[in-house]
Amino acid sequence: MERSIRNEIVRLFVENPEGFLSGEEISRRVGCSRAAVWKQIEELRKQGYEIEAKPRQGYRLKYRPDRVAPEEIYPHLKTERLGCEIRYVESTPSTQNIAHQWAKDGAPEGAVVIAEEQVNGRGRMGKTWHSPPRTGIWMSLILRPPISLAEASQLTLLASVGVQEAISKETNLPTKIKWPNDILVQGKKVCGILTEIRGEQDRIHYVIMGIGMNVNTEAKDFPEELANVGTSLAMETGRKIHRASLVAVLLKELEQYYLLYLQQGFTPIRKKWEEKAGMLGQVITARSTQSTITGLAEHLNEQGALLIRTSSGVVPVYSAEIEWQ
Ligand code: BTN
Repeated sequence: MERSIRNEIVRLFVENPEGFLSGEEISRRVGCSRAAVWKQIEELRKQGYEIEAKPRQGYRLKYRPDRVAPEEIYPHLKTERLGCEIRYVESTPSTQNIAHQWAKDGAPEGAVVIAEEQVNGRGRMGKTWHSPPRTGIWMSLILRPPISLAEASQLTLLASVGVQEAISKETNLPTKIKWPNDILVQGKKVCGILTEIRGEQDRIHYVIMGIGMNVNTEAKDFPEELANVGTSLAMETGRKIHRASLVAVLLKELEQYYLLYLQQGFTPIRKKWEEKAGMLGQVITARSTQSTITGLAEHLNEQGALLIRTSSGVVPVYSAEIEWQ
């Protein structure tokens, strides 16, 4: 697990919200020189942290800016693998691009790319993903599962189960999954997942699981075309949410389901997904570039396709936009 001096200093401050920590104590507990402590405190101040310094008492954290930087995530993170390395950027066209390059260069499984803002975020089916600064979680997770290309869509469904669980734990909001992996609150989308895969027929090289979650987005931040279809956790709960600790909860939930998947295969994930899905047992329309199918959404098959019962039989749907009343 990547643990820099700066991460450890923030961790100490987070664990001691009220009290002062002397420079000597920090250097002893982090295992670095006092000069290194002083340098990192200056760096944190530049990032917007307000750190009070008092002679003979030491340092006290008065204000933490809302950032999804590793030093904010690590004090909350309790995973083994996911988040083992985190690359953090202020602004990028898309975290997916950085993750692809990193994966090609040998990133370890569980590595994460996270940004405060994306200026060209990508959604499913060629859409764009609106990612305004400091409002959401825009992150890409690199995985290297030992599975075939045909099984890869199972990971997309796994991601939606993990995200749904994390949102429930953090907010208690009632959420539903819309096939394959949109997370809805009161029928509006709070999170979307874009899974991109590189590999050969029988072996995946890597998977980039891109997660976009509207966390502290306000109604005014949504462009007009999303105003009626998108929402955020803050809009639904009426309170601001600490994004970095939500990232940690999210990685923990994803890890639990990922390990379950590696040990027991897709069946337990499929069952969880079906419990949390919003449209099973209802008449739906599935639109893809090739066709439009209307019928009863029954359940998932073992590949993760949605089975729709139509007048001419049961049709498996692998990729489409779904609508239902
Ligand atoms: C969807 O269409 O619902 C999927 C949206 C996925 C958005 C995330 S944000 C982080 C990552 N980077 C991107 O450019 N897209 C994904």
